[in-house]
Amino acid sequence: MFKRFQKWHLWPRSLATRTALLLILGMGMIEVCGLLIHTLDRIDFDRLTQEQDLANRATAIYRDISETDNKDRSDEVDGLDPIPGFNIFLSSHADLQGIHPRSVKLEQTVSHLLSTVLFPPELRPRKILAATDNNHRRSSISFQLPNDKRWLNISYTLAQPNPFRSVTFPIAFFVMATSTCFLTIWGVKRLIAPVSTLAAAAERLGQDVNAPPLSETGPLEIAKAARAFNIMSSRIHRFVTDRTQLLLAIGHDLRTPITRLKLRAEFIEDDALRTKFLADLDEIEAMIRATLAFGRDNARHEPTTALDIASLLETIIDEMREAYPDKQEKIVLQEPLPKITVCAKPLGLKRALRNLMENALLYGGNVRVNLQTHYISSHDLQDGEKVAILIEDDGPGLKDETLEQVFEPFFRIETSRNRATGGTGLGLSIARNIIRGQGGDIILQNRSPHGLCAIVTLIG
Ligand SMILES: Nc1ncnc2c1ncn2[C@@H]1O[C@H](COP(=O)(O)OP(=O)(O)OP(=O)(O)O)[C@@H](O)[C@H]1O
Ligand SMILES: [Mg+2]
Repeated sequence: MFKRFQKWHLWPRSLATRTALLLILGMGMIEVCGLLIHTLDRIDFDRLTQEQDLANRATAIYRDISETDNKDRSDEVDGLDPIPGFNIFLSSHADLQGIHPRSVKLEQTVSHLLSTVLFPPELRPRKILAATDNNHRRSSISFQLPNDKRWLNISYTLAQPNPFRSVTFPIAFFVMATSTCFLTIWGVKRLIAPVSTLAAAAERLGQDVNAPPLSETGPLEIAKAARAFNIMSSRIHRFVTDRTQLLLAIGHDLRTPITRLKLRAEFIEDDALRTKFLADLDEIEAMIRATLAFGRDNARHEPTTALDIASLLETIIDEMREAYPDKQEKIVLQEPLPKITVCAKPLGLKRALRNLMENALLYGGNVRVNLQTHYISSHDLQDGEKVAILIEDDGPGLKDETLEQVFEPFFRIETSRNRATGGTGLGLSIARNIIRGQGGDIILQNRSPHGLCAIVTLIG
């Protein structure tokens, strides 16, 4: 059944909504059953009281007529105050007015009533006949009068039973149903909340291995899951730090033999060979430097602070113009920039953005920086709101299949690693690492007709 709901997109996706819905459905069914039982019971009770009431009236009428003289009985019947729903008349034989089946129960009730009231025995009816038609809700009683050949016939129609006569009942039912709904939703939300916390913690761990541990309180199962999660995250943390330390140690120790090799290379007599040899060593050195920086970035625990994105971008642009004086007019910051504050690690963020801007300038020939948010009117972003920094160029762009590949460490489109054409291929990988560690992301998109756009999203 649930599968069919899913197919129709009716089945909610959140666990809390599903649980609340099931509980409310269950309780709704219980309430409907309760309501049904109450209604049937009420109808039965109504019918019983009506029958009792009418039997009482019929008895009273009989008493009145039987106590009257034979000759005056007709006038007495005619002179009775009309009672709605009642039909009373005298006849020479019992006339149940076509109502059937015969009701021995009603006959006994009336006879019992007559025996309990103070009533002279000679005035008791010689015979009582009664019938009740449950479908048409009609009843009829005929009394054979004493000292008379005639019968007194009384028939009546029962009123339609109405189990919801009182206003308090529907109000009470409504209050009960709504309060049950609210209590269920509130309770389920509270119970399920730790699951969302666990999911958020897992997501945070994916971005930052230094994320703080979860609190191990709450219901037994949740506390157990939180403990298991904390153990797992501390293992991941240890694993990552061990690897980073190893990387840093290898990088560091390789520098001494490279320096020695460089010194020895000076003794190579063949000029061409020496130049090639030294260039290779330079390249190895550059790669090691980048690797060490990568490792240091991972190991560094820079504190998160509130920073103004616009002024950070202005600083990077100024530094870029200083570093590339001949390309000053190719470095553009699209103004005016909205003033937006985000919580980020300033050095890391600056390093990542600078990497992207240098890529645009070196491989695209120009760089244009823009800041976008859908919340421009405010200075502070609300939690979870996103700001996007766009770094565009009008260069050749990238082939679609390499848009993701370029984020792999040491991946370069142009394989030579000389200073003129670029670096080691670690830039994008470091930048994405830094930005993801702060809850954001970097994606690359080709622009039309040509050029590349790096979109950096950050969370406010
Ligand atoms: N804006 C761009 N236009 C075209 N190609 C680009 C652009 N940005 C990056 N690339 C390609 O992606 C590759 C990887 O870039 P990445 O920044 O990771 O390394 P790098 O620039 O080569 O070296 P590093 O940044 O470590 O000094 C580059 O070598 C380049 O081929
Ligand atoms: Mg680069």
